[in-house]
Amino acid sequence: MQEPKVSQRDQFVSKIGFILAAAGSAVGLGNIWRFPYLAGKNGGGAFVLFYLSCVIVLGFGLMLAEFIIGRHTQLSSVDAFKKLDKRFTFVGGMGVLAAFIIMGYYPVVGGWSVAYIFKTLFGELSTDAAVMGGAFESLIEGMFSPIFWTAIYMIANIVIVVKGISTGIERASKVMLPTLFGLLIILVIRSLTLPNAAEGLRYLFVPDFSKLTGDVMMAALGQAFFSLSLGMGCMITYASYLSKKENLVENATIVPILDTLVALLAGVVIIPATVSFGFDLDSGPGLVFVTVPAIFATMGPIIGRIFGFIFFFMIAIAALTSSLSLLEVVVSYLIDNRGWDRKKAVTITSIILFIICIASSLSMGIWKDKKLMDMNIFDLLDWFANNVLLPLGGIFITLFVGWFWDKDKVKAEVTNDGSIKFTLFNVWIFLCRFIIPIIILLVLLRGIGLI
Ligand code: PFF
Repeated sequence: MQEPKVSQRDQFVSKIGFILAAAGSAVGLGNIWRFPYLAGKNGGGAFVLFYLSCVIVLGFGLMLAEFIIGRHTQLSSVDAFKKLDKRFTFVGGMGVLAAFIIMGYYPVVGGWSVAYIFKTLFGELSTDAAVMGGAFESLIEGMFSPIFWTAIYMIANIVIVVKGISTGIERASKVMLPTLFGLLIILVIRSLTLPNAAEGLRYLFVPDFSKLTGDVMMAALGQAFFSLSLGMGCMITYASYLSKKENLVENATIVPILDTLVALLAGVVIIPATVSFGFDLDSGPGLVFVTVPAIFATMGPIIGRIFGFIFFFMIAIAALTSSLSLLEVVVSYLIDNRGWDRKKAVTITSIILFIICIASSLSMGIWKDKKLMDMNIFDLLDWFANNVLLPLGGIFITLFVGWFWDKDKVKAEVTNDGSIKFTLFNVWIFLCRFIIPIIILLVLLRGIGLI
């Protein structure tokens, strides 16, 4: 194993840079594409409420645990665990696997967003579900076009990750997040002034607990992990580039709040508009690509197109700052653990990932009928990584911090050797020891039908 010296390790150059990069990793397709369609599909309010509970109870605690491990060791996840307790090295390995699997389909959706930058600019915008649904299907079911857009998206990832942390990732995040917020707020106003918008809001926020089945709970839990980039060592890896002066508790509070705000804003844009246009709330991965262009159609041909262009451009950048972090998990493993140089690690990983992405993309079209456990390749990768691997990772990471790591060392790291107060330290340790692992386990068991 080649252990990089701390002094040589690239670091985030500013405080705001790290928050933006960590939030950049968290805020992505999970918030804008996945959250609204899962909320639509899983019955609305009850899903959203359970999701929010997961973020509050698990999100903050687990994010803090990952930050502490990463910053303490200054190593990416596999080597961080190897250094702290060899028995837990597999947790890092599981995380690398999860990153790999997610990157086997995430760039496909990233590619759709890139395609939609142009589609909204030059294609047809209509509030007719058949027109917008048809346009989306003809894109994703095609052979070459979605693969072409995925390739463009992958190339953008490669270029940034090759450059390393501070120059690439930090800079991209600094521009993306504020712009995305601004745009979402404009869209919220437009969506809420559509006829029948209130009904959509009610669907999103008034829980109907009869809909809270094991599957729905598991989906909400998986979404919390996915959206916050937790359970797979991504935040360990990012925090390994963080300076010893930063306040980890503050960071672990701000990032989940920002992430949840973006998801809720996206939900408030998409669900009321979907109801207002009479589109199908249950339409799955296509929801944002069908509903949002329809909202733009109501803004008039020119303004609608300009906003559409900016919106999908922002989604593509939000996706990019997330997939960069996923790629970074795999790449930093190959650099820190296998001693590869960055360029080689990025190139080889990307080629393999691109091949998996081709399979995922085709599973929306010509391989639509190839199914395992009733899921096509794309859905299977998504389900296995988010609903199984990430929650399992979350259990082991919190158990490690709660039970197996010297409490004094944990305290010293989180308080920056006593210079920062963390009054809830014992509460948080209690969460890591019992509450978080038990809740995750219960939801997992219920999700797979064992209880
Ligand atoms: N959080 C990202 C999103 O919401 O799109 C996806 C993601 C990034 C998941 C990084 C996991 C991860 F480690």
